[in-house]
Amino acid sequence: MVIKLKEGVYWVGAIDWTVRDLHGYIIPTGTTYNAYLVVDEKVALVDTVKHGFLDEMMMRIEKIIDPERIDYVISNHTEMDHSGVIPWVMKQAKNATVVATKKGEEGLKRYYKADWDFKTVGADDELSLGKKTLAFVPTPMLHWPDSMMSYLKEDKILLSNDAFGQHIASYERFDDEVDQNELMEHVRLYFANILMPFTQLITKKLDEVEKLKIPIEMIAPSHGVIWRKNPAGIIEEYKKLSKGETERRAIIVYDTMWHSTEKMATAIAEGIMDEGVKVDVMKLRSSYISEVVTKILGSGALVIGSPTLNNGVFPTVAGFMTYLEGLKPQVKKGAAFGSFGWTGGAVRKLQTQLEGMGIEPIEDGLEVKFLPDANDIKSCIEFGRLIGKSIKEEN
Ligand code: FEO
Repeated sequence: MVIKLKEGVYWVGAIDWTVRDLHGYIIPTGTTYNAYLVVDEKVALVDTVKHGFLDEMMMRIEKIIDPERIDYVISNHTEMDHSGVIPWVMKQAKNATVVATKKGEEGLKRYYKADWDFKTVGADDELSLGKKTLAFVPTPMLHWPDSMMSYLKEDKILLSNDAFGQHIASYERFDDEVDQNELMEHVRLYFANILMPFTQLITKKLDEVEKLKIPIEMIAPSHGVIWRKNPAGIIEEYKKLSKGETERRAIIVYDTMWHSTEKMATAIAEGIMDEGVKVDVMKLRSSYISEVVTKILGSGALVIGSPTLNNGVFPTVAGFMTYLEGLKPQVKKGAAFGSFGWTGGAVRKLQTQLEGMGIEPIEDGLEVKFLPDANDIKSCIEFGRLIGKSIKEEN
């Protein structure tokens, strides 16, 4: 199956139906690695696919042209889900030039020990393919130093690489062909786990792109479906997500050894709900952390719970906090709770970690020794009410 975006512009990527763990990030339905072939007097292949998917991509390319005809391999981003098969493409397209940013060239040389013919490009560069022209929009740190987007001027297609992507494996290739609610859930999951640390940069870059006043009729990312129905809509969604606006909702994330911390979580949720504030309760051993951090997007408070194990934080909670720290969450308020047997420790550590992430504690951490009794449960409900009230003050 070859998909035509416009005359002379084709999707020639691969569908990875089975992947569920992409470098530690859990994706529920698989993904696609989108490569695009632009056929004009010159032929450009924009991005490639992950190692293992070469045959699938080549099968599609061969339906359109002889791969030897490829003149340019545009590498928008060095990460190996996009650059993984460039070495094999270059063996077939013997006269091709690899086009990348300076950092991209450095990265490709490091990964593949390659001595290909390189052309480095920046913001003012254009590449004529004949009737069609490629322009380049460097997007450093969105999400790697080498990242850029390519823009096909005459067709008004932004080939945005990771930006505006979603991890969806599907037969459908365009946004208007899939369920819109599911699509936006995938957008949020992708944004939370890949782009959350870069929200300020995203806002700045989106402003810069708007100032360029380049007409965009289609956004073709390197994962998931292509935005042709409403490309402006996904740009607006990114702006909204980058602002870090919160709603009257809290998330309780916890794990438990003998259900004491779990009982506390349930009682705290009750207190939050008593205040008319929505709450999500997510046990870490029953949830994917990629889905947990997606729920944190837009939450008014993060309430984190852990029993004390060996004077420290329970391993699943500690791992989650490490993942979260790297994502630099925008949630502003938080609280910690947990049970302990002999001496505590976990709640203090969690509170310190929350503060280290710039999350303001709503209350001092709440600890319960052994199993929570009726009075402890009342304290947990009251703790939840205080959290709920604090969220209402802000929203
Ligand atoms: Fe889809 Fe940053 O790679």
